[in-house]
Amino acid sequence: MHHFTYRQNQLFCEELPVAAIAAQHGTPLYLYSRRTYRENFQRIDQAFAPWPHQICFALKANSNPQILRDFAELGCGADVVSVGELQLALQAGIPPQRIVFAGVGKRDDEIIAGIEAGIRGFNVESEAELAVINELAGRRKKIAPVSLRLNPDIDIHGHPYISTGRAADKFGIELNRAHALFAEIRDSRHVRMVGLHAHLGSQITDLWPFPKIGEVLANLAQAARAAGNHLDYIDVGGGLGAIYERAMKIAADTEPAPDLALPPAEIANTLLPALTRDLPKDCTVIFEPGRALVAGCGILITQVLYTKITRGKFFAVVDAGMTDLIRPSLYNAYHQIVPVIQRPGEWQSGDVVGPICESGDFLAKDRELPPMQRGDLLAVMTAGAYGFSLSSNYNARPRPAEVIVDGATMLLSRPRQKLETLWAT
Ligand SMILES: Cc1ncc(COP(=O)(O)O)c(C=O)c1O
Repeated sequence: MHHFTYRQNQLFCEELPVAAIAAQHGTPLYLYSRRTYRENFQRIDQAFAPWPHQICFALKANSNPQILRDFAELGCGADVVSVGELQLALQAGIPPQRIVFAGVGKRDDEIIAGIEAGIRGFNVESEAELAVINELAGRRKKIAPVSLRLNPDIDIHGHPYISTGRAADKFGIELNRAHALFAEIRDSRHVRMVGLHAHLGSQITDLWPFPKIGEVLANLAQAARAAGNHLDYIDVGGGLGAIYERAMKIAADTEPAPDLALPPAEIANTLLPALTRDLPKDCTVIFEPGRALVAGCGILITQVLYTKITRGKFFAVVDAGMTDLIRPSLYNAYHQIVPVIQRPGEWQSGDVVGPICESGDFLAKDRELPPMQRGDLLAVMTAGAYGFSLSSNYNARPRPAEVIVDGATMLLSRPRQKLETLWAT
């Protein structure tokens, strides 16, 4: 459930009116509901309770330090893909034993940082990377924990840019190389096999991929163990989708509305039996959602700068654009856009566009839009994942502020980037 509701035509985040928060902190502004992301974590964590498990938040979705600290306190781990994310996770208080390190192009300094930190495992994406980890660990007289990220060639039929488990994708190791590598790792001096990993892609809205990947990983686990490897974990990746369309029913949503595309309990109920049929209980199941934990907890507030009609088409020009939320431009992703204060009047079809000098800079195209005028505030829904974390300084625009609401209190978690920092070296 997300905790954005309408009360007498005004959008609220938990107990606070969004308009008042925007008046205090300006726009564009990312606003997060703490209750939403905490409840999402608890729901997913509880769903996996039948088996020893670890939820590892994929930091790439949102690495706001306060959100990370909250997840750390709740017992969440981290899926990191860079030394920067590793540092953020550690600084937030996530213990190294709850951190797994993925990424198709880990640099030597990143591998060394992971070894020195004592992370739970590197999710290794190629044979070449495995050799480098072995060599770097050897030079330090250490043994690095490695898990193989396998490419199962499963197509989730999502957007091609966020599908990662098909044979043609750059991620992971071919299944038919797995058996040879199980033996190679067993016989290597400076790597120790700790697990298996797969990640099919993002925004999964059907159940079937979860038991399917469970089945593939269960067979591989059997082979890895038969080859003499002990498995500390099996990491099934992330991918659980969020609700983007009809995230809110305009005017009608006075109660919290669902924000996950599938109930976590159904995922666990179909995945775990397939995955764990022959597993010993000391093998932890890792699930690494990013989007599902934070997408619905966040909205991007933007102000209408101008409205205009060009050749019969209505445009709302707003102060947020692709630099703040690139998903519509990058993936043609849909985000519902709702008024922060509803005004009476006719709806009309049109585009919501940003101020960036690119025609690809839009937040919505050919959308039924509520009545609006200069100065009105709009909320771009379901913006908590891959929103701020994908923001940029293009057109020399400072990154937006981030505010977290907790009940009736708010915290300015990250101030708007100062203009001076754009030319600081
Ligand atoms: C290895 C890995 N794990 C987890 C995730 C998180 O995916 P999602 O945000 O869809 O849950 C990603 C996303 O790219 C990923 O690459």
